Amino acid sequence: MKYILAIDQGTSSSRCILYDKAAQPVTIGQQEFKQIYPQPGWVEHNAEEIWQSQAAVINKVMKEKNLQTSDIAGCGITNQRETTVIWDRLTGKPIHNAIVWQDRRTAEECMRLKEAGYEPLIQAKTGLLLDPYFSATKVKWLLDHVEGARAKAERGELAFGTVDSWLVWKLTQGELHITDVSNASRTLLYNINELCWDEELLALWDIPTSLLPTVKSSSEIYGITQNPEISIGIPITSIVGDQQAALFGQLCHQPGMAKCTYGTGSFLMMNTGSKKVASTHRLLSTIAWQIGDDLTYALEGSVFIGGAVIQWLRDGLQIIQQASASEALANSVSDNGGVYFVPALTGLGAPHWDSQARGTIFGITRGTTSAHLARAALESIAFQADELLQTMALDSGKAITQLRIDGGAANNNLMVQFQADISNISITRPENLETTALGVAYLAGIAVGFWKIEDLKLSWRMSKQFTPNLAPEQIATLKHFWQKAIHRAKNWTE
Ligand code: G3P
Repeated sequence: MKYILAIDQGTSSSRCILYDKAAQPVTIGQQEFKQIYPQPGWVEHNAEEIWQSQAAVINKVMKEKNLQTSDIAGCGITNQRETTVIWDRLTGKPIHNAIVWQDRRTAEECMRLKEAGYEPLIQAKTGLLLDPYFSATKVKWLLDHVEGARAKAERGELAFGTVDSWLVWKLTQGELHITDVSNASRTLLYNINELCWDEELLALWDIPTSLLPTVKSSSEIYGITQNPEISIGIPITSIVGDQQAALFGQLCHQPGMAKCTYGTGSFLMMNTGSKKVASTHRLLSTIAWQIGDDLTYALEGSVFIGGAVIQWLRDGLQIIQQASASEALANSVSDNGGVYFVPALTGLGAPHWDSQARGTIFGITRGTTSAHLARAALESIAFQADELLQTMALDSGKAITQLRIDGGAANNNLMVQFQADISNISITRPENLETTALGVAYLAGIAVGFWKIEDLKLSWRMSKQFTPNLAPEQIATLKHFWQKAIHRAKNWTE
């Protein structure tokens, strides 16, 4: 068997990448799908469209290389996390659109529980905070708002899953209803100390246990594909959340190693080894992966709008034709001209956790051009990640001096150099920026003996190193104005 197939179901697109024995990408399929915004602050996906787009790219890859099932040693699934799907076990049909991780509709429910003093308990059990980001309040919303859903759930007729569970259900024609520990740890329902669904939290949101998938490790043979819409008989051998997959793909396998992925959002993650590190600065403690009986934990800072701010320049403001044009436009001016852009388009994630904050642009004058806006937008990606880096240093007790980066926006040299400058940190960009897909491919390959962990070092290669080069006074000035802008974005209604 020659290949591993990585299924990477992200927020903006479904992708499939084929890896050879040298862990090099052989071919890739990618398809965007529709983002649905029914009301301000709401974000949905059509779960059937997620499946269709995913099946299409799997088929494209298989066809392009004329592959048989017997060519594939294993396939791994990595996915946008927290996004919530509920479907009917009998018909296999979703009862509603998937509610996406960015969706803010349950902000009031989170506030209610916060005010009732539940957050410390929830944080101790799940490592997470009370925010609409996570799945639990989305599940409750669906049970409360879709007609007949609660009664059906109580009769055991419905299934809940994050996108990985939904895809495995589709891939196996409903035979498997499973997830892995890394995805379970993002639901707000999974106890990351005891490694089980938490009865007390299920009761808090009135969620029947019958809805839940069985939780597995991140690297094992779960079953085989059985859906005739794609090839039948491919072993499914890894499930892992996309940020955890990127941490694995960046070979951050030792405690203290960290990566930042600039995808739709930005996600800083640090391996904390076999021990959970409780955050005291509003970061998340989460499960990175489980291989065999070995469990690895991580600390995470999540920013909701990272690379998506460039999409907004393209689709919302329409000042660029394609995302890659943002760098040239931003480079056409020498600085931000005093413009600061806080892209709180879906509230603010770590370390602020303010679902009421709104996107805000400050410092506009008659001299401001689209180039300044583009520059401010790119700088905002770095400013937000810098807040995560500083917060993680406080939580872990030591500054992060080395950072590995990936994700689409990691291609943007201007943004990455600005990150190195304001964070005063050395940044390593690998040759292969598809570390999410690579990470799940590794885990899928390990499960079937296609690779050993030691082999992986051979395939990770550095492409460029960014070293900081900005005077401390300049850093201080930039950060001062950024903090003022953040303050205004959080208090825009006052
Ligand atoms: O937690 C959300 C995250 O998993 C989404 O990742 O790459 O789709 O922005 P991405």
